[in-house]
This record gives sequence, structure tokens and C-alpha cells, in this order.
Amino acid sequence: MAEFVTVVLAAGKGTRMKSKFSKVLHKAAGKPMIQHVLDAARAAGARRNIVVTGYEGQSVQEALAGAIAGQVEFVEQKEQLGTGHAVLQTKPLLQNETGTVMVLCGDTPLLTGALLRKLADEHEAAGAKATVLTAVMPDATGYGRIIRAADGSVEKIVEHKDATEAERAVREVNSGIYCFAIQSLFEALASVTNDNAQGEYYLPDVLEILKKRGEKIWAVTADHYEDTLGINSRLQLARAEKILRMRKAEELMAAGVTIMDPATTYIDADVRIGRDTVIYPMTWLEGTTVIGEDCEIGPSVRFQNVTCGDEVTGQFTYAHDCRIDTGVILGQFTHIRPDTHLAAGVKIGNFVEVKNSNIGEGSKLPHLSYIGDCDMGSGVNMGCGTITVNYDGKKKFRTRVGNDAFVGCNSNLVAPVTVEDGAYVAAGSTITNTVPAGTLAVARARQKNITDWHDKRK
Ligand code: UD1
Ligand code: MG
Repeated sequence: MAEFVTVVLAAGKGTRMKSKFSKVLHKAAGKPMIQHVLDAARAAGARRNIVVTGYEGQSVQEALAGAIAGQVEFVEQKEQLGTGHAVLQTKPLLQNETGTVMVLCGDTPLLTGALLRKLADEHEAAGAKATVLTAVMPDATGYGRIIRAADGSVEKIVEHKDATEAERAVREVNSGIYCFAIQSLFEALASVTNDNAQGEYYLPDVLEILKKRGEKIWAVTADHYEDTLGINSRLQLARAEKILRMRKAEELMAAGVTIMDPATTYIDADVRIGRDTVIYPMTWLEGTTVIGEDCEIGPSVRFQNVTCGDEVTGQFTYAHDCRIDTGVILGQFTHIRPDTHLAAGVKIGNFVEVKNSNIGEGSKLPHLSYIGDCDMGSGVNMGCGTITVNYDGKKKFRTRVGNDAFVGCNSNLVAPVTVEDGAYVAAGSTITNTVPAGTLAVARARQKNITDWHDKRK
């Protein structure tokens, strides 16, 4: 297996995105484009990764720091003078290295580990000084074109803006991904000029320079051109998104997940789902969400960073940054907010919001409740319309509800307050003091009937 380090170019402004953010931070399938590139590099076995930052460099560093801390080194390209100039900035970090460097662009989110592996292996097997990854595009507009000599070998790469009519007719393009012998790369970069339509130092010019020096130049063509798509505009981003989503759906279906309608199901790249789970249409599963086996999720569920056990059912529900254990039933129109843990067998019914709470095994919140900052035991029944009054306008307070407590409909639990094990709260109560274990609290005005009221009013 060939060994290599990577340089990922991410300093460009991405003018065609018309964005105030760095292009490589725009997300596809829930992940910044550059993260997809680094994940593919890691899957291919890269032993060191150097990212060249420039435009919005600080935010690129911050975005990558959390995700792959320690695995990436950064180099700044102060002025964006072209891809060749960008690679040159890594010289101080790489000048003592020998072997292969793979140069990648931060805007190619569809790359796979297998394709990069193939590129590195074929570069090594060919014994070339430079190998370019090419692709045959149905529409090559915007890409650098691969110009081959009569014997089929690569002669040079011509940028779209510099190309003649005849050269523009070529559909084999430069993917922007290459392997180079490190020392040959830096030697050739010294000769690259900016004498071209964009006034930039083009990295692809290195190939022609090496070729003229009699070095061996090689090309590997991707089997699927989609894998190499470079994203320069929002339209291209949407196309990449669609391909990534379909890939993810296919991977999950192959592993035993039923996805009723992949076209209306949006599953992020890193989401995991167990066997025999069924995903209904109009469902979004995002971020670090993990779903167990035999669940029924959707229609219209949005889960962000949710850890879900087996046999969970949810429909018309939004949950984020929370834990949902086996056999929980959610919906419809429920909102499960961060730092909530729903233990096994919990039932959350219509129009219920739960925030920063622990709900014990088998407890039921069937209708129209707000439960915030609450620690609830198991087997509790919260009547329709029960509200935890957790906020006095300045501070939040917790509510405790013991095992097997029964809270009647339309009650207010004014925190801090405790309803102990097996206690009862009468419907319509506003509870401000502890309800001891096993007792019934009635905290409402007594009903008074005024006789003959109808006749007296007349
Ligand atoms: C580049 C290639 C083109 C290829 C295409 C594939 C050049 C000159 N052209 O064109 O042959 O077909 O990619 O997608 O290399 N960048 C920097 N510093 C700079 C300029 C760019 O870091 O000064 C980075 C960008 O952030 C981006 C990558 O390099 O990640 C490619 O730049 P981009 O402007 O997208 O080049 P293309 O025009 O797509
Ligand atoms: Mg590009």
C-alpha cells in the first residue's frame, strides 16, 4: 500500500458561491465539504494532512479543530495567487519529506477513500513524478482540460479560460487531485509563472514542466465522474448534495434498512441506522444521530444528534441533542429538546415539549404538556395539559416527580417542587409544596354551585 501525505487547498474565496463564508465550509449532507475530503483522505490511509487556508482561514481552522483535532496541520496563504502558489506555501512543512504528496481541493465532497487509494497505488506502480486524477464529464465547462499527446500520454492541462475552441471540446478534465514526488513538485513549482488569463500561478502547469524535463507523467481516470465533481456554485452544491444523499440511502438499504422514499429522505453522511428499521418519507436524520434496530421513524421526523435505541416509533416529531431509549413512542407534534433522556418505554403524545429532563421507564406524557428541568421516575402518568412552571423570570428551577406518581389534568407544578413516589395530584391543581409519598394533593378552589342562577339573571 502506497504511503502519502496530503495537501488540501482551501484558501480560495469561492467567488462563484457569492457567499461571505469560505466555500469549503459550505455543507453537503450535513458536513463541510472540506471535512468530506479529509475523511476520504483518512479512509485512503493518508499519514499526514496539511490544509492551506486563506480567505476566512480562521473559521476554516475552527470548523476543523473540533472534528479532527490534532490530525490536521494548517498553513496560511496570505494572498490567493493561484493553486500553484497555494501549494508552494507548504514547502517549509514538506521540504524534508520524501515520497508522495497527494494534492486535493477542499471543494470536492464526493471523493471516496477507494478512489484516492487507487490514485496513490497507481502513481506508485507507474513510478511517475506526477499523476493526475482525471474524469470524463458530460459537461466540462469550467474545468481544466486534459490535453493528451498522440501516444495517449498527458501533454498538459489547459484551464477553461485559457483554452481554444478545440481544447474546450475535450471532455476529459483535471479533477484537481494529483500525486507528486515531493521534491520534483517543489522544483517544478519554482518555474511556474502567472502568464495566463487569470494572472494566477496554476498548479496544473507543473505537469507540463515536468514532462518537458523528461519526467514520467501519469494519469488515472475515475470510473465515476461524479466522485470528482468540484463545487464552485450553489447549483453544483445542490447536485452534490443529491448524489451524497442517494449514496447514503443506498448504503443503508444494502445494510438492511428500509427507506420508503429515498428522494424525500435526508440522511447525513455520518448517521447510523440499525437493521429492519423503516424510514418513512419527509424525514431528516442529521449530525451524529444513531438509530437502533426495528424502529419506525417518520413520516416527517427531524432528528439532530439524537441517540435512539431499538423499537422506537416517531412521527411528525422534532428532537435534537437528546437520548431516546428502546421502545419509546413519540408524536405527533412533539418537541424533544437538548439534554433530555427518555428511558425505555416512555410515551410522549400529541403536542408535548420536553426540555433538559429525565423521564423514567414507562412514564407517559400523553397530551399537551410542557415538561422542562424535570427529573421524573418510572411509571408516572402526567395528565393532559400538565405544566412544569420552571422559570420565575430570572432563574430556572427543577421539578421532581417520584415513581408511579399520578398527576391530574391541567396541573401546574411550580418549581422547585417535589411530588413524591406514588403521590396523586388532583386535576387543576397548582402545586407549590412537596406532595408526600402516597398522599393526594388538592390545590384548587372548591366548587360552589349557586342555585337558580339562570332564573335570577332574568
Ligand atoms: C481547479 C483547476 C482545474 C480543475 C478544477 C477541478 C487550477 C488552476 N485549476 O480549477 O484544472 O479542473 O480545479 O475542480 O488549479 N485555492 C487556494 N488558493 C488559491 C486559489 C485556489 O487555496 O490561490 C483553492 C480553493 O480554495 C479550492 C481549490 O484551490 O479549494 C481550487 O480552486 P478553484 O478556484 O475552485 O479552482 P477551479 O477554477 O475549480
Ligand atoms: Mg473548483
